[in-house]
Amino acid sequence: MPESLVTIFYIVAAVLFILSLGGLSNQETARRGNIFGMLGMLIALAAVTGSKDVTAYAILAVALFPAILIGATLARRVKMTEMPQLVAILHSFVGAAAVLVGLGLQLNPTSLDGLSPIEITIHEIEVYIGVCIGSITFTGSIIAFGKLHGLLSGKPLLIPARHALNLIVVGVTIWLGILFTGHSDNSMLYLLAAMVITGLLGIHLVMAIGGADMPVVVSMLNSYSGWAAAAAGFMLGNDLLIIVGALVGSSGLILSLIMCRGMNRSLISVILGGFGTGDGGSGAMQTPEGEVTSIDIAHTATLLNNAKSVIIVPGYGMAVAQAQHTIAKITKKLRDNNTQVIFAIHPVAGRLPGHMNVLLAEANIPYDIVMELDEINHTFPATDVVMVIGANDIVNPSALDDPNSPIAGMPVLEVWKSKDVIVMKRSMGTGYAGVGNPLFFNENTSMLFGDAGENVDAILAAL
Ligand code: TAP
Repeated sequence: MPESLVTIFYIVAAVLFILSLGGLSNQETARRGNIFGMLGMLIALAAVTGSKDVTAYAILAVALFPAILIGATLARRVKMTEMPQLVAILHSFVGAAAVLVGLGLQLNPTSLDGLSPIEITIHEIEVYIGVCIGSITFTGSIIAFGKLHGLLSGKPLLIPARHALNLIVVGVTIWLGILFTGHSDNSMLYLLAAMVITGLLGIHLVMAIGGADMPVVVSMLNSYSGWAAAAAGFMLGNDLLIIVGALVGSSGLILSLIMCRGMNRSLISVILGGFGTGDGGSGAMQTPEGEVTSIDIAHTATLLNNAKSVIIVPGYGMAVAQAQHTIAKITKKLRDNNTQVIFAIHPVAGRLPGHMNVLLAEANIPYDIVMELDEINHTFPATDVVMVIGANDIVNPSALDDPNSPIAGMPVLEVWKSKDVIVMKRSMGTGYAGVGNPLFFNENTSMLFGDAGENVDAILAAL
């Protein structure tokens, strides 16, 4: 394929990626955004394959087809509740790719052919930065995968003097970088040493982050994977990879900032870790206790039938129980009965940014009755019934009134201000952050124990 055509394809793909991001910013255009993204990726793949840089088609086919098969099978099979892990592990692949591109270039004696001394230095800096960012992304994402999959504890690992340790690692990495670009015979050794210590830094950075802050970690690693891809683009001299990497890197950073705002954290404090231990305050965390009131299906249906206004708060448990389709039917029934029904979405509900929005969209819940935390919080006092379906941390009042709570300071949905609260969950167990919830002991809270899927089916039948 002539180079000019490849360039045109690259430009079209880049425009499609930008349109894709624009589409993803709104639920109504998200599907279109996804299609633009897929089209852009197809065009990019075709352009790269047809370019003069690719000649070994047999090797490409051997690498590509099993990868497509494995990727498509895994993506089809993965449960919605396991999506965050899938995203985390995919980030690790981008990191690994950047490391391998860097090492490959370093091992290839012809990669410096025809370059002037200053160009060689620039190339070496690109390789070094690419390998370091790639290595942090790779190991950090694997640890995030382990934490999200429950293979590793969600509790933050707090090594004494951890900030000083991180600073030392950054210092050593810079020092190794200076040695690496000094055209020494040991440059491969310096590169490998940097890869190992930045890999350890990635492990340490993510291990130090507590359960409640994992949403920000997922989006930060998304951002790192973008920068790793951009670094690979610089190393390979591929403009499209640089553009795509920069788009992913910056949108991941913006998403991290939005998540931080949602959790009332500063990005720096999340990156440095340590939240999620309850060490923010000066004393011990309060343990909620008292009488718990249970409710049955018939009574729940009566409360809903008599209510003029209902707010539904979905959480991770709704995703586990796949209760959204029945909830959509309950919503229709109540609305037909002239009851006002609104969904309240917390920015970190579930395990993925936008997790609840995706599930509600899948069940065809109208977008105009789905509200964000800021829009809905003031309406709870005027609401008759709040149904909390498999949510816990996002409705925990201790975030507001217990400074020693690991989630202290995080804005929550203030459901307890409504007239009646029904909480659907299977037990008195804690949520992702591992914190007891005083809401369950409130006088106006009733617990509807059991699997949310079975309970919503029974409520629908009773209604
Ligand atoms: P959680 O606090 O994790 O609470 C979910 C609750 O659902 C659990 O307490 C569980 O109680 C219940 N549950 C599980 N399966 C159920 C089922 N089949 N039927 C009924 N209930 C079920 O969820 P949340 O309120 O959505 O808060 C999200 C948490 O995850 C936050 O701490 C957030 O920081 C963290 N997080 C979020 C993300 C993103 S990006 N959203 C990423 C990583 C982590 P039982 O076991 O008693 O049933």
